[in-house]
Amino acid sequence: MGLLSGKNLVSSGSFAIDLGTNNIKIYSSAGERIMVQKNMIAIENKKRMIAYGDAAYEMFEKAPGNISVTAPMSSGVIADIRNMEQLLKAFMQEVQGGPLRPGDYFIAIPTDVTEVEKRAFYDLVRDAGIRARKIMAVEKAIADGLGMGIDVKNSQGVLVVDVGYDTTEISILSLGGIVLSRIIKVGGHVFDASIVSAVRREFNLVIGMKTAESVRIAFNDITQNEGKAVVYGRDIVTGLPMERTLTHDFVSESLKENFRVIVDSIKLILERTPPELAADIYRHGLFLTGGASQEEGLAQEMSNEIRLAVNLAESPVNSVALGISQVIRKSQYRSLAYTIEGLGK
Ligand SMILES: Nc1ncnc2c1ncn2[C@@H]1O[C@H](COP(=O)(O)OP(=O)(O)OP(=O)(O)O)[C@@H](O)[C@H]1O
Ligand SMILES: [Mg+2]
Repeated sequence: MGLLSGKNLVSSGSFAIDLGTNNIKIYSSAGERIMVQKNMIAIENKKRMIAYGDAAYEMFEKAPGNISVTAPMSSGVIADIRNMEQLLKAFMQEVQGGPLRPGDYFIAIPTDVTEVEKRAFYDLVRDAGIRARKIMAVEKAIADGLGMGIDVKNSQGVLVVDVGYDTTEISILSLGGIVLSRIIKVGGHVFDASIVSAVRREFNLVIGMKTAESVRIAFNDITQNEGKAVVYGRDIVTGLPMERTLTHDFVSESLKENFRVIVDSIKLILERTPPELAADIYRHGLFLTGGASQEEGLAQEMSNEIRLAVNLAESPVNSVALGISQVIRKSQYRSLAYTIEGLGK
Protein backbone atom coordinates (compact mmCIF):
# COMPACT_ATOMS: atom_id res chain seq x y z
CA MET A 1 0.00 0.00 0.00
CA GLY A 2 1.13 3.45 -0.82
CA LEU A 3 4.21 2.46 -2.74
CA LEU A 4 4.23 3.63 -6.30
CA SER A 5 4.11 0.69 -8.62
CA GLY A 6 5.21 2.55 -11.75
CA LYS A 7 8.50 0.98 -12.73
CA ASN A 8 9.82 4.17 -14.30
CA LEU A 9 10.00 5.65 -10.86
CA VAL A 10 11.98 3.10 -8.97
CA SER A 11 14.28 1.83 -11.70
CA SER A 12 15.53 5.23 -12.81
CA GLY A 13 16.28 6.37 -9.29
CA SER A 14 14.77 9.30 -7.47
CA PHE A 15 16.67 11.51 -5.13
CA ALA A 16 15.56 13.79 -2.32
CA ILE A 17 17.88 16.64 -1.51
CA ASP A 18 17.87 18.88 1.53
CA LEU A 19 20.56 21.47 0.98
CA GLY A 20 21.17 22.58 4.53
CA THR A 21 23.52 25.40 5.34
CA ASN A 22 25.47 23.07 7.62
CA ASN A 23 24.59 19.57 6.43
CA ILE A 24 23.48 18.31 3.06
CA LYS A 25 21.13 15.34 3.19
CA ILE A 26 20.55 13.13 0.18
CA TYR A 27 18.05 10.30 0.07
CA SER A 28 18.26 7.79 -2.72
CA SER A 29 15.28 5.60 -3.60
CA ALA A 30 17.66 2.85 -4.70
CA GLY A 31 19.62 2.57 -1.48
CA GLU A 32 16.74 3.59 0.80
CA ARG A 33 19.19 5.50 2.93
CA ILE A 34 20.10 9.09 3.68
CA MET A 35 23.61 10.41 3.28
CA VAL A 36 24.44 13.28 5.63
CA GLN A 37 27.60 15.31 5.20
CA LYS A 38 28.86 18.78 5.95
CA ASN A 39 27.93 21.11 3.11
CA MET A 40 31.46 22.42 2.66
CA ILE A 41 34.13 22.59 -0.02
CA ALA A 42 37.90 22.98 0.23
CA ILE A 43 39.61 24.67 -2.71
CA GLU A 44 43.32 24.98 -3.26
CA ASN A 45 44.83 28.03 -4.93
CA LYS A 46 41.36 29.28 -5.93
CA LYS A 47 41.12 26.47 -8.48
CA ARG A 48 41.11 22.86 -7.51
CA MET A 49 38.64 21.15 -5.20
CA ILE A 50 40.78 19.09 -2.82
CA ALA A 51 38.10 17.97 -0.39
CA TYR A 52 34.36 18.15 0.10
CA GLY A 53 31.77 17.34 2.72
CA ASP A 54 32.97 16.00 6.07
CA ALA A 55 36.58 15.92 4.84
CA ALA A 56 36.44 19.63 3.96
CA TYR A 57 34.93 20.40 7.35
CA GLU A 58 37.91 18.69 9.01
CA MET A 59 40.12 21.37 7.46
CA PHE A 60 37.83 24.25 8.45
CA GLU A 61 39.49 26.86 10.70
CA LYS A 62 42.77 24.97 10.32
CA ALA A 63 43.76 25.26 6.65
CA PRO A 64 46.65 27.41 5.40
CA GLY A 65 45.99 30.56 3.38
CA ASN A 66 46.07 28.94 -0.04
CA ILE A 67 43.27 26.53 0.87
CA SER A 68 39.86 28.08 1.30
CA VAL A 69 37.22 26.07 3.10
CA THR A 70 33.77 27.52 2.55
CA ALA A 71 30.08 26.73 2.79
CA PRO A 72 28.19 27.57 -0.41
CA MET A 73 24.85 27.93 1.38
CA SER A 74 24.04 30.84 3.62
CA SER A 75 20.89 31.36 5.69
CA GLY A 76 19.20 28.49 3.87
CA VAL A 77 19.76 29.82 0.34
CA ILE A 78 22.43 29.24 -2.30
CA ALA A 79 25.12 31.89 -1.91
CA ASP A 80 27.81 30.43 -4.18
CA ILE A 81 26.24 28.54 -7.03
CA ARG A 82 29.45 27.42 -8.79
CA ASN A 83 30.83 25.73 -5.70
CA MET A 84 27.44 24.32 -4.82
CA GLU A 85 27.25 22.73 -8.30
CA GLN A 86 30.66 21.15 -7.88
CA LEU A 87 29.77 19.88 -4.44
CA LEU A 88 26.42 18.46 -5.46
CA LYS A 89 28.02 16.56 -8.30
CA ALA A 90 30.65 15.12 -5.97
CA PHE A 91 28.00 14.06 -3.46
CA MET A 92 25.84 12.50 -6.16
CA GLN A 93 28.78 10.50 -7.46
CA GLU A 94 29.36 9.24 -3.96
CA VAL A 95 25.69 8.38 -3.43
CA GLN A 96 25.50 6.52 -6.75
CA GLY A 97 28.87 4.88 -6.22
CA GLY A 98 30.06 5.35 -9.78
CA PRO A 99 29.11 7.12 -12.99
CA LEU A 100 25.98 9.20 -12.72
CA ARG A 101 22.77 7.75 -14.06
CA PRO A 102 19.78 9.86 -15.08
CA GLY A 103 17.41 10.44 -12.17
CA ASP A 104 14.51 12.47 -10.85
CA TYR A 105 15.35 15.09 -8.27
CA PHE A 106 13.12 16.35 -5.49
CA ILE A 107 14.58 19.33 -3.74
CA ALA A 108 13.53 21.06 -0.53
CA ILE A 109 12.91 24.78 -0.86
CA PRO A 110 12.39 27.31 1.91
CA THR A 111 9.15 29.27 1.69
CA ASP A 112 10.03 32.70 3.04
CA VAL A 113 12.71 33.55 0.43
CA THR A 114 12.57 35.45 -2.87
CA GLU A 115 11.50 33.95 -6.20
CA VAL A 116 15.04 34.40 -7.48
CA GLU A 117 16.40 32.46 -4.52
CA LYS A 118 13.86 29.69 -5.13
CA ARG A 119 14.71 29.49 -8.79
CA ALA A 120 18.39 29.11 -7.93
CA PHE A 121 17.61 25.64 -6.50
CA TYR A 122 16.21 24.61 -9.86
CA ASP A 123 19.14 26.09 -11.77
CA LEU A 124 21.55 24.31 -9.46
CA VAL A 125 20.12 20.85 -10.07
CA ARG A 126 19.80 21.51 -13.81
CA ASP A 127 23.35 22.83 -14.21
CA ALA A 128 25.31 20.66 -11.78
CA GLY A 129 25.92 18.00 -14.44
CA ILE A 130 24.09 15.31 -12.47
CA ARG A 131 21.79 14.16 -15.30
CA ALA A 132 18.57 15.39 -13.75
CA ARG A 133 15.57 14.25 -15.75
CA LYS A 134 12.88 15.81 -13.69
CA ILE A 135 13.33 18.54 -11.09
CA MET A 136 10.60 18.98 -8.50
CA ALA A 137 10.35 21.19 -5.45
CA VAL A 138 8.84 20.44 -2.06
CA GLU A 139 8.39 23.18 0.52
CA LYS A 140 10.80 22.50 3.35
CA ALA A 141 8.19 22.87 6.07
CA ILE A 142 5.83 20.43 4.35
CA ALA A 143 8.67 17.93 4.09
CA ASP A 144 9.48 18.45 7.77
CA GLY A 145 5.87 17.72 8.67
CA LEU A 146 5.80 14.51 6.63
CA GLY A 147 9.19 13.51 8.00
CA MET A 148 7.81 13.82 11.52
CA GLY A 149 5.00 11.45 10.65
CA ILE A 150 2.22 14.01 10.16
CA ASP A 151 -0.30 13.32 7.43
CA VAL A 152 0.10 16.90 6.22
CA LYS A 153 -2.45 16.56 3.42
CA ASN A 154 -5.29 15.85 5.79
CA SER A 155 -4.23 17.83 8.84
CA GLN A 156 -5.34 21.33 9.66
CA GLY A 157 -3.32 23.71 11.75
CA VAL A 158 0.14 22.23 12.19
CA LEU A 159 2.91 24.38 13.65
CA VAL A 160 6.37 23.29 12.53
CA VAL A 161 9.56 24.84 13.90
CA ASP A 162 12.86 23.84 12.24
CA VAL A 163 15.90 25.12 14.11
CA GLY A 164 18.78 24.75 11.67
CA TYR A 165 22.22 26.25 11.33
CA ASP A 166 21.86 29.95 10.89
CA THR A 167 18.11 30.10 10.50
CA THR A 168 14.95 28.89 12.15
CA GLU A 169 11.91 28.37 9.95
CA ILE A 170 8.54 28.71 11.64
CA SER A 171 5.58 27.54 9.58
CA ILE A 172 1.89 26.84 9.86
CA LEU A 173 0.64 24.10 7.60
CA SER A 174 -2.89 23.18 6.72
CA LEU A 175 -4.28 20.64 4.25
CA GLY A 176 -1.03 20.18 2.39
CA GLY A 177 -0.26 23.87 2.02
CA ILE A 178 1.55 26.57 3.92
CA VAL A 179 -0.58 29.20 5.62
CA LEU A 180 2.26 31.22 7.12
CA SER A 181 6.02 30.80 7.14
CA ARG A 182 8.82 32.96 8.47
CA ILE A 183 12.56 32.54 8.54
CA ILE A 184 14.49 34.16 11.34
CA LYS A 185 18.25 34.34 11.60
CA VAL A 186 18.82 32.17 14.65
CA GLY A 187 20.15 28.62 14.69
CA GLY A 188 22.98 26.43 15.94
CA HIS A 189 25.63 28.64 14.40
CA VAL A 190 24.23 31.68 16.14
CA PHE A 191 24.24 29.71 19.41
CA ASP A 192 27.94 29.04 18.85
CA ALA A 193 28.63 32.69 18.10
CA SER A 194 26.94 33.67 21.37
CA ILE A 195 29.22 31.31 23.29
CA VAL A 196 32.30 32.63 21.49
CA SER A 197 31.45 36.22 22.40
CA ALA A 198 30.50 35.38 25.99
CA VAL A 199 33.85 33.62 26.49
CA ARG A 200 35.66 36.57 24.99
CA ARG A 201 33.86 39.05 27.23
CA GLU A 202 34.21 37.04 30.37
CA PHE A 203 37.70 35.55 30.02
CA ASN A 204 39.46 37.60 27.32
CA LEU A 205 39.77 34.35 25.47
CA VAL A 206 39.16 33.80 21.76
CA ILE A 207 37.86 30.32 20.97
CA GLY A 208 36.88 28.84 17.61
CA MET A 209 33.33 28.17 16.47
CA LYS A 210 34.04 24.43 16.34
CA THR A 211 35.09 24.50 19.98
CA ALA A 212 31.94 26.39 20.94
CA GLU A 213 29.79 23.88 19.10
CA SER A 214 31.40 20.85 20.69
CA VAL A 215 31.11 22.27 24.19
CA ARG A 216 27.48 23.19 23.58
CA ILE A 217 26.62 19.71 22.32
CA ALA A 218 28.65 17.98 25.05
CA PHE A 219 26.69 19.86 27.71
CA ASN A 220 23.46 18.40 26.37
CA ASP A 221 24.44 15.24 28.13
CA ILE A 222 25.45 16.47 31.54
CA THR A 223 26.10 13.00 32.87
CA GLN A 224 29.14 12.85 30.59
CA ASN A 225 30.88 15.98 31.83
CA GLU A 226 29.74 16.93 35.34
CA GLY A 227 28.80 20.40 34.17
CA LYS A 228 32.31 21.47 33.27
CA ALA A 229 34.33 21.59 30.05
CA VAL A 230 37.85 22.74 29.32
CA VAL A 231 38.29 24.90 26.24
CA TYR A 232 41.44 26.04 24.50
CA GLY A 233 41.87 29.32 22.68
CA ARG A 234 44.00 32.44 22.43
CA ASP A 235 44.30 34.96 25.23
CA ILE A 236 43.47 38.44 23.89
CA VAL A 237 45.91 40.20 26.19
CA THR A 238 48.99 38.00 25.86
CA GLY A 239 48.19 36.55 22.44
CA LEU A 240 49.23 33.15 23.77
CA PRO A 241 47.33 29.86 23.80
CA MET A 242 45.27 29.44 26.96
CA GLU A 243 42.82 27.05 28.55
CA ARG A 244 39.74 27.80 30.59
CA THR A 245 37.03 25.80 32.24
CA LEU A 246 33.49 26.66 31.21
CA THR A 247 30.55 25.70 33.35
CA HIS A 248 27.25 24.42 32.14
CA ASP A 249 25.50 27.45 33.66
CA PHE A 250 27.77 29.86 31.83
CA VAL A 251 26.98 28.23 28.49
CA SER A 252 23.23 28.05 29.18
CA GLU A 253 23.20 31.69 30.17
CA SER A 254 24.91 32.77 26.97
CA LEU A 255 22.26 30.97 24.88
CA LYS A 256 19.24 32.43 26.62
CA GLU A 257 18.82 35.45 24.38
CA ASN A 258 18.68 33.19 21.30
CA PHE A 259 15.96 31.06 22.83
CA ARG A 260 13.99 34.20 23.59
CA VAL A 261 14.21 35.40 19.98
CA ILE A 262 12.90 32.05 18.72
CA VAL A 263 10.07 31.97 21.25
CA ASP A 264 9.05 35.56 20.49
CA SER A 265 8.97 34.86 16.76
CA ILE A 266 6.74 31.82 17.29
CA LYS A 267 4.39 33.97 19.36
CA LEU A 268 4.29 36.56 16.60
CA ILE A 269 3.29 33.94 14.03
CA LEU A 270 0.65 32.55 16.35
CA GLU A 271 -0.82 36.02 16.79
CA ARG A 272 -1.35 36.19 13.05
CA THR A 273 -2.90 32.74 12.79
CA PRO A 274 -6.63 32.54 12.06
CA PRO A 275 -8.51 31.44 15.22
CA GLU A 276 -9.87 28.20 13.74
CA LEU A 277 -6.37 27.06 12.96
CA ALA A 278 -5.13 28.23 16.34
CA ALA A 279 -7.56 25.78 17.95
CA ASP A 280 -6.12 22.92 15.89
CA ILE A 281 -2.58 23.97 16.71
CA TYR A 282 -3.46 23.92 20.37
CA ARG A 283 -4.73 20.37 20.03
CA HIS A 284 -1.71 19.10 18.08
CA GLY A 285 1.01 20.99 19.91
CA LEU A 286 4.17 22.31 18.31
CA PHE A 287 6.35 20.10 16.10
CA LEU A 288 10.00 20.79 16.72
CA THR A 289 12.81 19.66 14.44
CA GLY A 290 16.18 20.67 12.89
CA GLY A 291 19.60 19.71 14.27
CA ALA A 292 19.83 22.61 16.69
CA SER A 293 16.35 21.91 18.10
CA GLN A 294 18.19 19.33 20.22
CA GLU A 295 19.84 22.12 22.18
CA GLU A 296 19.21 21.44 25.83
CA GLY A 297 16.50 23.59 27.37
CA LEU A 298 15.09 24.92 24.11
CA ALA A 299 12.05 22.64 23.94
CA GLN A 300 11.36 23.26 27.63
CA GLU A 301 11.57 27.01 27.15
CA MET A 302 9.09 26.77 24.28
CA SER A 303 6.54 24.76 26.19
CA ASN A 304 6.86 27.09 29.20
CA GLU A 305 6.51 30.27 27.21
CA ILE A 306 4.11 29.28 24.46
CA ARG A 307 2.05 26.86 26.51
CA LEU A 308 1.84 24.22 23.84
CA ALA A 309 2.87 20.61 24.03
CA VAL A 310 6.15 20.18 22.14
CA ASN A 311 6.52 17.13 19.90
CA LEU A 312 10.16 16.32 19.29
CA ALA A 313 11.32 14.91 15.95
CA GLU A 314 12.75 11.43 16.18
CA SER A 315 15.37 12.30 13.62
CA PRO A 316 15.74 16.09 13.70
CA VAL A 317 18.61 16.37 11.23
CA ASN A 318 16.89 14.17 8.66
CA SER A 319 13.23 15.09 8.89
CA VAL A 320 13.18 17.12 5.65
CA ALA A 321 14.87 14.35 3.66
CA LEU A 322 12.66 11.69 5.27
CA GLY A 323 9.61 13.76 4.36
CA ILE A 324 10.62 14.04 0.73
CA SER A 325 11.29 10.32 0.65
CA GLN A 326 7.59 9.90 1.47
CA VAL A 327 6.70 12.14 -1.47
CA ILE A 328 8.82 9.92 -3.70
CA ARG A 329 7.47 6.65 -2.35
CA LYS A 330 3.81 7.33 -1.69
CA SER A 331 1.51 8.28 -4.52
CA GLN A 332 -0.92 10.09 -2.23
CA TYR A 333 1.83 12.60 -1.41
CA ARG A 334 3.02 13.16 -4.97
CA SER A 335 0.89 16.29 -5.33
CA LEU A 336 2.98 17.95 -2.63
CA ALA A 337 5.82 18.25 -5.13
CA TYR A 338 5.59 20.90 -7.82
CA THR A 339 7.63 21.93 -10.79
CA ILE A 340 9.68 25.08 -10.54
CA GLU A 341 10.81 25.22 -14.13
CA GLY A 342 9.20 28.51 -14.97
CA LEU A 343 9.86 30.14 -11.64
CA GLY A 344 11.04 33.73 -11.90
CA LYS A 345 11.68 33.54 -15.64
N1 LIG B 1 22.78 17.10 19.69
C1 LIG B 1 22.76 18.37 19.30
N2 LIG B 1 22.47 19.37 20.18
C2 LIG B 1 22.44 20.64 19.80
N3 LIG B 1 22.68 21.07 18.55
C3 LIG B 1 22.96 20.13 17.63
C4 LIG B 1 23.03 18.75 17.94
N4 LIG B 1 23.34 18.07 16.82
C5 LIG B 1 23.46 18.98 15.84
N5 LIG B 1 23.25 20.23 16.32
C6 LIG B 1 23.29 21.49 15.57
O1 LIG B 1 22.44 21.41 14.48
C7 LIG B 1 22.88 22.29 13.45
C8 LIG B 1 22.75 21.61 12.11
O2 LIG B 1 21.42 21.17 11.96
P1 LIG B 1 20.77 20.93 10.55
O3 LIG B 1 21.49 19.86 9.81
O4 LIG B 1 19.32 20.74 10.77
O5 LIG B 1 21.06 22.32 9.83
P2 LIG B 1 20.98 22.63 8.28
O6 LIG B 1 19.81 21.94 7.71
O7 LIG B 1 22.29 22.36 7.65
O8 LIG B 1 20.76 24.20 8.31
P3 LIG B 1 19.57 25.10 7.70
O9 LIG B 1 18.32 24.30 7.75
O10 LIG B 1 19.57 26.27 8.62
O11 LIG B 1 20.01 25.44 6.32
C9 LIG B 1 24.31 22.68 13.79
O12 LIG B 1 24.35 24.03 14.20
C10 LIG B 1 24.66 21.75 14.97
O13 LIG B 1 25.49 22.37 15.93
MG1 LIG C 1 17.82 22.39 7.47
